[in-house]
Amino acid sequence: MSDKLFIFDTTLRDGEQVPGCQLNTVEKIQVAKALQDLGVDIIEAGFPISSPGDFESVVQISKAVTWPTICALTRAVQKDIEVAAESLKYAKKGRIHTGIGTSPFHIKYKLNSTPEEIIERAVAAVKYAKKYVEDVEFYAEDAGRTDNEYLARVIEAVIKAGATVVNIPDTTGYCLPNEFGEKIKYLVENVTGIHKAVIATHCHNDLGMATANTVAGIMNGARQAEVTINGIGERAGNTSLEEVVMTLKSRYQVLGIETGINTKNIFHTSRLVSTLMNMPVQPNKAVVGRNAFAHSSGIHQDGVLKNRENYEIMDPADVGINESSILLTARSGRAALKHRLELMGFELTKEKLDEVYEQFLKLADHKKDIRDDDIALLVGDATHQERR
Ligand code: KIV
Ligand code: ZN
Repeated sequence: MSDKLFIFDTTLRDGEQVPGCQLNTVEKIQVAKALQDLGVDIIEAGFPISSPGDFESVVQISKAVTWPTICALTRAVQKDIEVAAESLKYAKKGRIHTGIGTSPFHIKYKLNSTPEEIIERAVAAVKYAKKYVEDVEFYAEDAGRTDNEYLARVIEAVIKAGATVVNIPDTTGYCLPNEFGEKIKYLVENVTGIHKAVIATHCHNDLGMATANTVAGIMNGARQAEVTINGIGERAGNTSLEEVVMTLKSRYQVLGIETGINTKNIFHTSRLVSTLMNMPVQPNKAVVGRNAFAHSSGIHQDGVLKNRENYEIMDPADVGINESSILLTARSGRAALKHRLELMGFELTKEKLDEVYEQFLKLADHKKDIRDDDIALLVGDATHQERR
């Protein structure tokens, strides 16, 4: 099995479904180019049948982007597939992503169908898409709540029909990591011809387990992860690109799988998407949150100043953040204050440092945000006369 994981970014399709976060075509092109620079393998650019704007965006992104595969989403409906194929006509490498619901809920209540008819419709959609493009991905919507035995039958049938990638979405974010991992393992072990297709994970975060489920899928044989920048997406969002990529990088010794992502572009891409979509990144968000590399307690600050690996498992520079930050709070120790003073150009005697530290603690008790100006005032030299 290959040790390369394909990164399929769906920020511009599943991510963009967040209410109030819609982008215009120019903004989507900007994001698509940033995703290309980031090194994603596949960009899901839209759902072309859904609106003329989505169609146009797929066309323009196909023209603007040079090397990642451009993917367009469809239902298992002929008209959707025709429109998707048309939207991809300028793509250097185009993929149609078609599929249908496979869980009992979807079959009965959404599609008013039967398990056998769903297999027929899935196969027909894949065969129809193959008339237009070689690269056809099939999604079994709500695979997370689909019985493994039935799912294996669906997947075997669509691979036989020519699917190059089989996507196993946990559409409702329902699975536990061990269940999701077992589901992928079951497919690897029970689907005839599974080696002819790449298995993809597409996890949602309703229970906060999207990344864990994705990693469990990868550990059991999936080689494409469907993700979004900052984990944006409907409801609680999708698996976040930065979490999966940095998990594989940080734990390479255990997992042994690599991506082609230029990790140093992660922070920039995160902020670009956040700004354009007007969707703030939560401060404690793993990898890209404002506090992801910020240390505030005295014990941690002292540890980081002695050796950052005491409390950091990733180098912030690897994700494009210049340095870890030592926040000055009422819980900071002398070491943190001394470090900040040195960065500001002050070198104090031990006695002077003790004096300033005492004043600092009093100030920090009632002021949350201690700035360099406050420190300079405490040193008794707002004009910085004691600078080296
Ligand atoms: O969550 C999901 O099932 C999807 C599919 C359309 C791939 O987004
Ligand atoms: Zn989804």
